[in-house]
Amino acid sequence: AEFENITLDQDGPLGILTINRPKSLNALNIETFREIAEAIMLIEENPEVEALIVTGGGDKAFVAGADITEVAELEGAFNGRDLSLQGQDIFQQISQLPFLTLAAVNGYALGGGLELAMACDLRIASPGAKLGLPEATLGLIPGYGGTQRLPRLVGVGRALDIMISGRLVDAREAHSIGLVNEVVDQPLDRAKEYARNVLSKTAPLAVGLIKEAVRRGMDTTFGDALEIEADLFGMAVATEDRKEGTQAFLEKRKPNFKGE
Ligand code: HXC
Repeated sequence: AEFENITLDQDGPLGILTINRPKSLNALNIETFREIAEAIMLIEENPEVEALIVTGGGDKAFVAGADITEVAELEGAFNGRDLSLQGQDIFQQISQLPFLTLAAVNGYALGGGLELAMACDLRIASPGAKLGLPEATLGLIPGYGGTQRLPRLVGVGRALDIMISGRLVDAREAHSIGLVNEVVDQPLDRAKEYARNVLSKTAPLAVGLIKEAVRRGMDTTFGDALEIEADLFGMAVATEDRKEGTQAFLEKRKPNFKGE
């Protein structure tokens, strides 16, 4: 596929999606969103891809948000609502991928950029990264899932602070409140290492089921969530990899997971 605003690469089992408009700090215009949606489709269809890393091109930004030149042109509630729903849908598709997804946050992750990073399972940031949802400073609110994902990650009080003040959170604070999982000099290299380690150790179906249990559980009551857990636990027990994993432990050898 030919893309203008992103690149989609494969490094062994790892898909690498780079948002690549460095002159605009990788801001997400409509065309870039369209390309991201196409890339997600390609990734879903490619059986070789077992984990996804999302990062930003250039050395300043992960993604500095929705493209403000386009947002400035929006007229009326319907247009805005539509834009929000479309972006939400694409980020939901990312969050529902059945394998590990990592954001390598190599600089600014603001607005829609932080929302993209939060749609991934884990965030690994560079020491100079700055994260935030500054939409209110533009007279907007986050519209790609941010008002919901941020409180789930850092708690309601911290999320309200970050969104209402519009302030930028540095990597160190982001780490201390659990918004990023790790802070390292080379986040893309570390994300690859993390992903390869996961792929070498854990059963792929189990990873997918854990993600599903957490995601669906966060959407419902505790009681219903426990039922969801039990259902998915049942599915894990029914896999070949569960037999292999437990047998390998008993035989004191490394498991050979097949994703079955
Ligand atoms: C369009 C952007 C952009 C953006 C940066 N640029 N962010 N263009 N949309 N979100 C452009 C700048 O206009 C500039 O273009 C170039 O990228 C470099 O940026 P500078 O501002 O010159 O860099 P710097 O001074 O280092 O400041 C970096 C920054 C600042 C602090 C990240 O660029 C910034 O505040 N950007 C906006 C961040 C933001 O508010 N994001 C939220 C967007 S709203 P030129 O042509 O001058 O070189 C959003 C809503 C989502 O995401 C929900 C919608 C439904």
